[in-house]
Formats: sequence, C-alpha cells, structure tokens
Amino acid sequence: MAGVTCVDLFCGAGGLTHGLVLEGIDVTAGIDVDPACRYPLEENNRGARFLKKDVRELEGKELDSLFGESEIRLLAGCAPCQPFSTYAQRYDIKRDHKWGLLYEFSRLAEATSPDIVTMENVPSLAKNEVFLDFVKELERVGYRTHHEIVDCSKYGVPQTRRRLVLLASRYGDIRLIPPTTTEPGTVRDVIGHLPEIKAGEAWPEDPLHTASSLSDINLQRIRASKPGGSWKDWPEYLVAACHRSKTGRTYPSVYGRMEWEKPSPTMTTQCHGYGNGRFGHPSQDRAISLREAAILQSFPESYKFAACHEDVSFSTLARLIGNAVPVELGRAVGKSVWAHLESVGKAHAPVSRDHEHQNAQAIVS
Ligand SMILES: C[S@@+](CC[C@H](N)C(=O)[O-])C[C@H]1O[C@@H](n2cnc3c(N)ncnc32)[C@H](O)[C@@H]1O
Repeated sequence: MAGVTCVDLFCGAGGLTHGLVLEGIDVTAGIDVDPACRYPLEENNRGARFLKKDVRELEGKELDSLFGESEIRLLAGCAPCQPFSTYAQRYDIKRDHKWGLLYEFSRLAEATSPDIVTMENVPSLAKNEVFLDFVKELERVGYRTHHEIVDCSKYGVPQTRRRLVLLASRYGDIRLIPPTTTEPGTVRDVIGHLPEIKAGEAWPEDPLHTASSLSDINLQRIRASKPGGSWKDWPEYLVAACHRSKTGRTYPSVYGRMEWEKPSPTMTTQCHGYGNGRFGHPSQDRAISLREAAILQSFPESYKFAACHEDVSFSTLARLIGNAVPVELGRAVGKSVWAHLESVGKAHAPVSRDHEHQNAQAIVS
C-alpha cells in the first residue's frame, strides 16, 4: 500500500510538519521566506528539506519535484494568519500583500493536483471572501472539501486555541477525526515540572527555558497579579493611564497570569511578554519562558528551535513558536488523512506509528 508524501507551504518552525511526521507522513520539504525556519524544520523532522522561497515565486514544476516518489501527495499549508485576524480586518486587507497568499495556494494546488490538501488558519478567515474563493476553486478542480472551526484543547493541545482547519480530497468525502479527548490538558500538566527561573534568566541546561526581563514597575505588577485575574486586582498606583481608559478596559487579560488548572490562553507571536496578554506564569513572577510557550503549543519538550552557535533573537523564536500550528493539531490532521485514505481503499497508516514517533523523538534528543 502507498505511503503519503507531503510538502508544507509556509512551514514556519514545523509545528504542522512535526505533527504529520509523528503520524507517519513523509514530509519531504517545507517552504518559507524566513531563514530562521531552516534549523527547526530540518533538525526535528528527518527527511524534510527547507527551501527558503517566496511561495508567490514557486512554480508548479518545482513543487512537483519536491514531492518524493510516494503515490499519495498531500499539499499542506498555513498561510500567515495576521491579515485574516479580527484585528487586521479593521483595516483594508486587500492592501496587504499577504492576503493573496491563499490564491497562491490554490494556484499551486491546481498546478500540481495533489491527492489531498490541508490548510489551517484563524477562525475569522472562514467568512472571508478570500477563503470562500479558495474553497470554490478547489471544488471546481475536482476536490471534495470539508472545513470546520476546531477547539484545539479537544485534540490534546493544552490551550484555548480555536482554529479553522480545511481538508480536501480528490477521492471523496474527507473529515477531521472526532475530538481525541474530553478532558483538556492544563498548564500544570505540561509545564508544572519545569525548573524555576526568574524574569530575565535562562535555565543553563535548556537555553529556550528563558523568560524576558521585567521592569521594576512590571515586577511590582506581576507580584500583585492573581492567576486568572487582571490589572483590576492591582493597587491604584500600579494601574497605567491606558488601563483606565475605555480602550484599556476592553483588554482585561493584558498583564494577566495563567491559571494552573486550566488550559493556557492562545499562544501568539507576543507570548513572551507579560504585558501582551495573559502570559504571566501562574506562580513565578515572570512571563512564561519560550520553552513553556512551545510546550503549550504541544511541541515535544526536546524540540530544537535554534542551533547553539546561532544568535537567534528572543522575538524571532517567539514568532516561530506563536505562529506554529500546534503539533497535536497537526497529528489530528495526519490521522484524518490516514482514516480517509483507508476508507477509500487507497492506503493504510503505517503499522506502528509509535515506531515513527520514536524515530522522530530520537532525532530531537
Ligand atoms: C502561520 S505561520 C506558519 C506556521 C507553520 N505552519 C507551523 O506550523 O509552524 C506562516 C508562515 O508563512 C511565512 N510566509 C509569509 N509570507 C510568505 C511567503 N510569501 N512565502 C513563503 N512563506 C511566507 C512566514 O514566514 C511564517 O513562517
């Protein structure tokens, strides 16, 4: 029976790639404009080659050559979310060059005719004309499509993240597998065991377990913050003018602490900053570390984001982590692809996906 080969457009640090790899899908290449993606993609995903390229300049012929020899081809991708977020929609997204990237995705699907297509993005994209065109185009060239808004915590991601997932197949109806858990993981479950560090410190054994530093006033603020609370818990002298204003009141979770017994809030590219959302550690007086953010995105604890000798900035790493498709959501997509291929008699999932898992783990440890 055939295997599945995949190319991941807009691959980032490889959250989606890694989930697919753990499910026995052979990701042969990841494409992204950001050179910082090369190391994490290639280091953690055996066989995946990074191609630094603007997807708008990618020709069908080149993409064709990147799919290996397998009979079944999967084209995966998660175009940048920012132009589709609720915030960005207040502005004219048509002026943003990124909005057209989904059209590039359908151009490449049409040019290479992969057997299956998958895409992940922010929920608000579902109502956007750009997405409706994307679906229409896939259906016009012969795909059956399915999309839904997924609560990632029901698929093993310890986070209140909601995402739009699209699956499309040339072989007939395809669906996302049902939720894999009824009990969402909590912040304590996944990061409760990590060594204590202070704001501005790094854990010597894992440089990614590093937290951004805090100014004196922010240190006082986090000391006054309660898990799940807001700046409204602070004494008056710590509250900034912008918090008191109308605008400030609409963002009660900025400068918040996470709660141990709940899933975390959605990780963003700014998740390393205490002032950027509810990104305060539940009990230590600091923002979450980059490693904690990665674990909350369901990356394995051993996932490597930068080589020891590389000088990659804090904000670059936070961007790679916050932008990622949670690995567990990628696994759910991988499982859905196999379930579909089995149902149409085209392929079987590898006999032991645990073996694949161990292989993938082995190369990261
Ligand atoms: C939402 S992130 C993808 C996350 C990734 N799928 C993961 O799971 O880790 C979007 C990515 O698109 C990349 N990107 C933006 N514009 C691009 C373009 N024109 N061509 C290729 N990549 C692009 C960004 O650098 C970013 O890494």
